[in-house]
Amino acid sequence: MFAFKASAQQGTHMFRAKILSKCAFRRKMSSRLVLGIETSCDETGAAVMDETGLILGESLHSQKEVHLKTGGIIPTVAQRLHRENIGRIVQEAMERSGVTQSQLSAVATTVKPGLALSLGIGLDFSLNFVKLHQKPFIPIHHMEAHALTVRMLQPVVFPFLVLLVSGGHSLLALARGIDDFLLLGQTLDEAPGDTMDKVARRLSLIKHPKCSMISGGQAIEILARDGNRLKFLFKPPMGAHYDCNFSFAGLRNQVTMSIQKKEEEEGVEQGTLLSCVNDIAAATQHAVASHIAKRTHRAILFCKAKDLLPSCNPTLVVSGGVASNQYIRKILKIVTDTTGLHLLCPPSKFCTDNGVMIAWNGVERLREGKGILSHTEEVNYEPKCWDSQWRDRQTGIPDCMPSCALAAGDESSRRKPSGGRRRLVLW
Ligand code: KG4
Ligand code: ZN
Repeated sequence: MFAFKASAQQGTHMFRAKILSKCAFRRKMSSRLVLGIETSCDETGAAVMDETGLILGESLHSQKEVHLKTGGIIPTVAQRLHRENIGRIVQEAMERSGVTQSQLSAVATTVKPGLALSLGIGLDFSLNFVKLHQKPFIPIHHMEAHALTVRMLQPVVFPFLVLLVSGGHSLLALARGIDDFLLLGQTLDEAPGDTMDKVARRLSLIKHPKCSMISGGQAIEILARDGNRLKFLFKPPMGAHYDCNFSFAGLRNQVTMSIQKKEEEEGVEQGTLLSCVNDIAAATQHAVASHIAKRTHRAILFCKAKDLLPSCNPTLVVSGGVASNQYIRKILKIVTDTTGLHLLCPPSKFCTDNGVMIAWNGVERLREGKGILSHTEEVNYEPKCWDSQWRDRQTGIPDCMPSCALAAGDESSRRKPSGGRRRLVLW
């Protein structure tokens, strides 16, 4: 339904910028234009989009390489890099779009949740921008933007189930409208990407020739392909908790203990690449995938039991950096096939943080006239807002319902999987 044009990459930049410039000129008469800005974590992103979802221009600066070298995100470093890059990134996105500041209908920026120091840079920049150019401002909830990105690419109607898994988030929610989300579960400690990043660091995978420049999660996925997951058996997290929450810290502890044991057996120091890294990667990836799939399965059963999903084409949307993992996608596909849901994962570049998803959320809000502020209004960022906010929005369904309903749903599903033909053998 929505047209889509890829961003102007370095090299092809000039050519595309010209095409888009003409296109933008024609569209400016009929379509409102939104500038989206993202700085909630370690990506500085900006994009200009028209009301139909056409990306007119975008630019992205990733800090991942820097943080990989320092062994994790140092907030003050992230802040400095956002500060150094945001002006250039916004300017690039604007130039590539061929749109002038005066042609913009609004500026949409992530204000929650995220790293305070990072959010602050994006918000300060945006508030100055909207004051200078007298444009409406649309504050964006980062998780809502992740959840809705798929609608930019294809028509997905509400309500749908959404699983967001990345380095900073892990949650299951029912998307009922652009600003109406029912939170079904979230991580009680760390996010799966964070767990895999930490395991990768503990294994010193940065020293592995195949993994020196990639994230921990990607490294685990690549090494796992040549590993035997059955060489290490990790106990699945939260086996006795009949709800849709996640927990990965205990699993990470198990993996760390196995690594320590192996180091002792092989008589090597911490920091040395173990001979069994592939097997540990495979077992870790499988344990993470199984946990995610099990909680998602429970959320699906809950939604079915409560009639929360449409009978026609019920859909599970999966996004966030970890959603690019093919093994996890494959296991989730078994869950959706078994339960009769349609599985949708945006392409990897839209699963990770970027300005496009923020611009799209701005477009959705502009179209519905929701959450649009004047350039004179005070706005603050909220680093840890999302769980209480999303809970506040739950109407008529108390917090405990997923666990209560699913305790029963889970048991019956073990005896007779719904949808029937394929048995779930993940746990
Ligand atoms: O969404 P994202 O770019 O940033 C936020 O965390 O918000 O996700 C980054 C996370 C990192 O933890 C990274 O290790 C993980 O996503 N990741 C993966 C894969 N690619 C990235 N995890 C597992 N498999 C992958 N292929
Ligand atoms: Zn994100």
